[in-house]
Amino acid sequence: MAGKSNDDLSGKVAIVTGGSIGIGASIAFALAEAGADVALNYRKHSEEAEAVVLKINEIGRRGLVVQADVSNFRDAENMVTRVKEELGSVDILVCNAGITRDAVIWKMTEEQWDEVININLKGYFNYIHAVGPIFKSQNSGKIVNVASINGLRGKFGQSNYAATKGGIIALTKTIARELGKFNVNVNAIAPGMVLTNMMEKIPDEFKQRAVDETVLGRLASPEDIANLVVFLCSDRSRHITGEVIKIDGGQYI
Ligand SMILES: NC(=O)c1ccc[n+]([C@@H]2O[C@H](COP(=O)([O-])OP(=O)(O)OC[C@H]3O[C@@H](n4cnc5c(N)ncnc54)[C@H](OP(=O)(O)O)[C@@H]3O)[C@@H](O)[C@H]2O)c1
Repeated sequence: MAGKSNDDLSGKVAIVTGGSIGIGASIAFALAEAGADVALNYRKHSEEAEAVVLKINEIGRRGLVVQADVSNFRDAENMVTRVKEELGSVDILVCNAGITRDAVIWKMTEEQWDEVININLKGYFNYIHAVGPIFKSQNSGKIVNVASINGLRGKFGQSNYAATKGGIIALTKTIARELGKFNVNVNAIAPGMVLTNMMEKIPDEFKQRAVDETVLGRLASPEDIANLVVFLCSDRSRHITGEVIKIDGGQYI
């Protein structure tokens, strides 16, 4: 008998933070391809965000785009309320929005430190805090947090960024413990270098160094990352929680 396969996300509603470009845009589209309706937010790239929703609509899914700064606690609450009202539920949260403001510690400014902590770490807290009560009361939910291998190994010039990514891993494990009995899976993924806008400012020499660090001899595309996220949002991964999965072509073994 034909039934729903356990990687079918139809009927589910997902929120993806930072879905206008890069990895978030690929995740939003991949979730829609798997059947979900998808709400995404962004801060600056409005045309790109609208284009992602258009693509989602073209494959027959509902999409919602919200301009919301992830570092703003109220914006997060308002967005989650709006998604529930307009799309009917919230079943999946992918915390992805992130920035870099690199500098060695002796040159890092307080502003660089604060901005990265507020977006990359508090931004994740804000959305998890907003969906937590919903997931708890409906006794189901999936949370995927995008961390980085640099949160596991540290990275020269990225004390702020690496601290947030390590923090996201600890946050993931803690929320997995807190929401586990409510049938909520909470996992983190730790990509190595992925070719996106975030990497634009990185000199080619450093990109080549990252390729050389991998054992597969390649860097990830955003779609590689999206495939893992879809798996973690589906019932195929129902027994995985509190986990950090590296997806880095062996860049950090
Ligand atoms: N690229 C890599 O090599 C790599 C490796 C490991 C982990 N990651 C992680 O993957 C995630 C996505 O990175 P990416 O490479 O796709 O970066 P990206 O291309 O620069 O995209 C970042 C996304 O985050 C959004 N964003 C940034 N600040 C925001 C804010 N305050 N409020 C709402 N949205 C905000 C951006 O939206 P707007 O620009 O429209 O505001 C954009 O959609 C990040 O968490 C990053 O740390 C990336």
